[in-house]
Amino acid sequence: MSESQPTCPAHGVSAAQPVTQHRRLVALLLAVIGFGAAIGAVGLRRTEAADRQAFVVLSVAVLFLAVWICARQLIAVHAGEQLLQVGDRPWRKPLRTGRRRAVPAPGRIRVRRPLVSQPAPEPRPGSADVEQVRAAAEEFLELFHTENAQAGPLGPRLLAVMREIDLTGTYWHTPEELTFGARVAWRNNARCIGRLYWHSLQVRDLRTVSDAAELAGHCFDHLRMAHNGGKIRPMISVFAPETPTRPAPRIWNEQLIRYAGYEQPHDRVLGDPRYVAFTSELVQRGWQPPEVPGAFDVLPLVVETVEDGPQLFQLPDESLHEVPLEHPELAWFAELGMRWHAVPVISNNRLDIGGISYPAAPFNGWYMGTEIGARNLGDSDRYAMVPEVAGRMGLDISSEATLWRDRALVEINRAVLHSFQQNGVSISDHHTESRRFLIHLEREERAGRRCPADWSWIVPPLSGSQTPVFHRYYDAETQVPNFFADTDATHRALQGGPPAFR
Ligand code: ARG
Repeated sequence: MSESQPTCPAHGVSAAQPVTQHRRLVALLLAVIGFGAAIGAVGLRRTEAADRQAFVVLSVAVLFLAVWICARQLIAVHAGEQLLQVGDRPWRKPLRTGRRRAVPAPGRIRVRRPLVSQPAPEPRPGSADVEQVRAAAEEFLELFHTENAQAGPLGPRLLAVMREIDLTGTYWHTPEELTFGARVAWRNNARCIGRLYWHSLQVRDLRTVSDAAELAGHCFDHLRMAHNGGKIRPMISVFAPETPTRPAPRIWNEQLIRYAGYEQPHDRVLGDPRYVAFTSELVQRGWQPPEVPGAFDVLPLVVETVEDGPQLFQLPDESLHEVPLEHPELAWFAELGMRWHAVPVISNNRLDIGGISYPAAPFNGWYMGTEIGARNLGDSDRYAMVPEVAGRMGLDISSEATLWRDRALVEINRAVLHSFQQNGVSISDHHTESRRFLIHLEREERAGRRCPADWSWIVPPLSGSQTPVFHRYYDAETQVPNFFADTDATHRALQGGPPAFR
């Protein structure tokens, strides 16, 4: 847990509680004795002195009672102050309150600021975006506490977060909130068919990392750890968030591993045509392609920070896992020299959790075969391998009606699934993944949640109507937490600029 982390009241040890109970017990005991003695003295009524004595005892008892009530009040106020000093001391006794945003006079509390905000952020109370952050934080924290009973009551945490936002314009998620938020962002992502395993996402909390070289190093570690010897682990690395005083770092690349595209004579392209502009921009910025450029040259990672601007980092060999493609029957297929990387780590989407933006939060699952076989290698504006494969297969390409495109596409997809399996790298086919998605939908419905899905992204690009996801409609509304592909980030990933900070 980060040092600046407000301790969750539900997890803290309530050190004040035994003292409070002890005081109450003593006060109560004295009051009972006092009353007993008074009643006894009045009952005996032997002398005037005894009457006086009974009166004194009765008064003392009432006094004790009053002291007890006062002591209770003091303790409650004391606990209230501690509740608000969330960053300063370990949690003690929480106020039992159902109120939200019950904030005392400003200036009475100190909330330790997030590690990333140096120097102290200027509070910007009342500004429109602060109001948005407050609303989004409240919505997220309600969700977090609803789905995580072990996190304890919402009230104290909400109070602390609202105070933190008042003072700093932002707030710092607990590690538990971050993990839950990242998982739910995946669960909410309408474009992803692979969400059945949303709960297994491994979250690397790297929020104190904002230096470009350090960040790149962690991305390369991510690739190794997610590859996991072929048994791919869904994983996300969350770097420094956006704050009012310091913008978050940016990763320009669409994924951690992307192949260069080089323009050739006669409008031809060597490599991935999607990245022709990006590649030439990186060459301008000093990247040297291999002496003999190839169709699968891995581009450097571009990390931009407000201090240093965009910087380039070459991927180390240990982080690069690729699968050479061969076909289970067509021996010539391997001669095409096609390959693809094992782990798809999307690196330019912004993770949004409870009003906090994490623009650098690369995440991965494993591939579904059609992503590579039908789109990356099949699309006419990507590697466009269909005509060549059809030719090698000896298909009749004189008429569309021979369905030569469809037949070639199926064989490319068989090659992808076969090769990944042969190399022991996780991959799934679109029929299996479609069925899993419907299981996910059913589970979400049973949990009483809506599951947003975008039909045009969910239905596989091959044999759509053969998969069950084709034959129905989905809820389409956007839910947060989520991942967002911002326009400027998409532009940087394809055009290689302009920089975010100039
Ligand atoms: N479609 C992208 C690609 O072909 C990857 C997107 C994420 N895919 C995934 N299975 N997690 O590289």
